[in-house]
Amino acid sequence: MSENNPLLRRVYALDGDKEETRRVYAEWAEQYDRDTLDGMGYVAPGLVAKELSGLVAKDAKVLDAGCGTGLAGVELKKLGFTNIDGIDLSGEMLEVAREKEAYDKLAEADMTVPLEIADDSYDAVISVGVFTSGHVKPKALDELARVTRKGGQIVVTVHEKVWEADGYPDYLEDMEKRGLVSIRAVKEAPYHRKEGYSCQICVLEVL
Ligand SMILES: C[S@@+](CC[C@H](N)C(=O)[O-])C[C@H]1O[C@@H](n2cnc3c(N)ncnc32)[C@H](O)[C@@H]1O
Repeated sequence: MSENNPLLRRVYALDGDKEETRRVYAEWAEQYDRDTLDGMGYVAPGLVAKELSGLVAKDAKVLDAGCGTGLAGVELKKLGFTNIDGIDLSGEMLEVAREKEAYDKLAEADMTVPLEIADDSYDAVISVGVFTSGHVKPKALDELARVTRKGGQIVVTVHEKVWEADGYPDYLEDMEKRGLVSIRAVKEAPYHRKEGYSCQICVLEVL
């Protein structure tokens, strides 16, 4: 699929240039759900929603960081979650998310800089498909921990391509040493079933 889809080739070639990231997702927004769900067999949003539902109450205040078109919000809503906010770099992706009516608040935000969100604002934070090549690096996990209340839960996917390459195992261990989180689980899981990619689903409790 990626070989035949010029947008996907551009997504895989992203190198952290925010303007190019914004441009690619602005162009992809309308087609994103079809390409990922049908085209690639993207299962990560459903898996993360299911993981979170085993950890927190359905009325938990949840932030979906890098929510894109809202695939994870829809999965959370199906499971009974009622209090979900979303942030994303791309206004166009957020517009598609808004149509799904799964979120309370949606806002543009860059996860690579300090978020304009107060400490301890959320009971849980999820991030699906964002810790991947050319998007967001492990350092962004610090901000997710900061905006989650003590005892709250973080569930994120890390794409297999960057798990070792971007140093996630060491970074998570370092977060534990700094007393930010406790690592509850790191599980290998399918990501894009049709493309054969996997990810690590990381479950962190904020300390
Ligand atoms: C592969 S999509 C995943 C979207 C959604 N979470 C999902 O699972 O379908 C990656 C998303 O990360 C967003 N993104 C990339 N860099 C970002 C950044 N620095 N801050 C916030 N969002 C970012 C993109 O705009 C895009 O919506």
